[in-house]
Amino acid sequence: MKKIITYGTFDILHTGHINLLRRARNLGDYLVVGVSSDEFNAEKGKQAYYAYEQRKAVLEAVKYVDEVIEEYAWEQKENDIKSHNIDILVMGDHWEGKFDSFKEFCEVVYLPRTVGISTSKIKEDLLKKK
Ligand code: CTP
Repeated sequence: MKKIITYGTFDILHTGHINLLRRARNLGDYLVVGVSSDEFNAEKGKQAYYAYEQRKAVLEAVKYVDEVIEEYAWEQKENDIKSHNIDILVMGDHWEGKFDSFKEFCEVVYLPRTVGISTSKIKEDLLKKK
């Protein structure tokens, strides 16, 4: 069984997220998604609209997602890859090259982002409509 892992905030789920999850899942048989905890987001200066448990519940209902784990630190990836027997680490191509050091442990694939949509853009557009 080929296992894939990817990471993200996945706040206010949109078609860019779904495209990424579908493509990632299609690279193998089992997709693990590391979802950033609220504390980890705070460290990054990011605040999600939905709390971690809500973002996790939404992702668990997506048919391309087999398992959701908590992403709580930058350094956890090596351990996740080993403990979940991951074959491929998938990241969006805005991270191109940044995760190449993990090629020591598994394949690393950067997938193209869907053009024209992001959680930040949704939030900005909704504010404009007020
Ligand atoms: N993603 C994508 N295409 C988009 C938006 C996101 O492929 N248009 C992917 C990212 O590359 C990442 C995953 O979805 O692999 C989760 O991204 P996340 O940062 O949670 O979503 P964004 O919408 O980019 O959030 P924000 O605007 O808050 O940065």
